[in-house]
Amino acid sequence: MRTLAKTKRLVKKVKANGKTIGFVPTMGYLHEGHLSLVRIARRKSQFVVVSIFVNPAQFSPHEDLAKYPRDMKRDVALLRKEKVDLIFCPSVNEIYPPDYKTYVYVKKLNRLMCGASRPRHFQGVTTVILNLFNIVKPDIAVFGAKDYQQGVIIKCMTRNLNLDIKIIIGKIIREKDGLALSSRNIYLSPRQRKNATILYQALRRIRYDFRQGFSDPRRAKTMMRQMIEKKNGRINYIAVVNKNTLSPVKKLGAGTLIALAVFFGKTRLIDNTIL
Ligand code: PAJ
Repeated sequence: MRTLAKTKRLVKKVKANGKTIGFVPTMGYLHEGHLSLVRIARRKSQFVVVSIFVNPAQFSPHEDLAKYPRDMKRDVALLRKEKVDLIFCPSVNEIYPPDYKTYVYVKKLNRLMCGASRPRHFQGVTTVILNLFNIVKPDIAVFGAKDYQQGVIIKCMTRNLNLDIKIIIGKIIREKDGLALSSRNIYLSPRQRKNATILYQALRRIRYDFRQGFSDPRRAKTMMRQMIEKKNGRINYIAVVNKNTLSPVKKLGAGTLIALAVFFGKTRLIDNTIL
């Protein structure tokens, strides 16, 4: 199902039949992380929509838009297996026609953490998500905790604009060695791939120390920085913040979010954990 008009017509029918719609937005190149969200949507709604759209508005000019991995055939096969009812893959022109002018953003939250070095990123995300919400008209929408800040921002937008959509956040799915699944992991060389496991190890180390009574955020950051730099990771940021407000905490406590973004070569990976 490709065109926007057709999708809108089908959504209208589904609604008229009184079915609840569950929605999982993605940029494709699907992995078990995405599929775990699809399964949540399947459990919690009667008609499941997955969108595949590599959204130009959330990439900066120097980022990987052109080479973002794509494999539509494989994606469609995976989604068929999960019994997805509608796969929506609009063209860039359908979402952003040449005269497109409208953007939405969530103040302040969009400038923190990932937003500090990617200033347009979250505006691109909220803009496309609001647009997709208006097309798909979901009752629930499922996002992953791997992009934790994205979830917080989308929840804020949904609340502030009174969208009648329940936002559900699914847990992070990881490889056996702890690396969070990501479409971008294929960019890593074998050596970088091995080194990248340090991200989860560093997060676990702080969780462990916290359980032993450790509570200093500055020392936590220093320890993580040292562990990661030893494995040739170039740190973009390490944040130790309140999981709801994303503002820095003075002491580690239950509900503290530890989030990081680290480059291995040119590949930027993110991960996080909540104490
Ligand atoms: P994408 O990176 O394709 O991710 C789609 C969804 O899958 C997001 O909600 C993301 O948090 C989730 N996800 C990715 N890896 C995961 C993992 N290892 N475990 C659990 N969930 C995981 O995020 C985007 O696309 C875009 O920004 C989008 C929301 C589609 C807007 O363009």
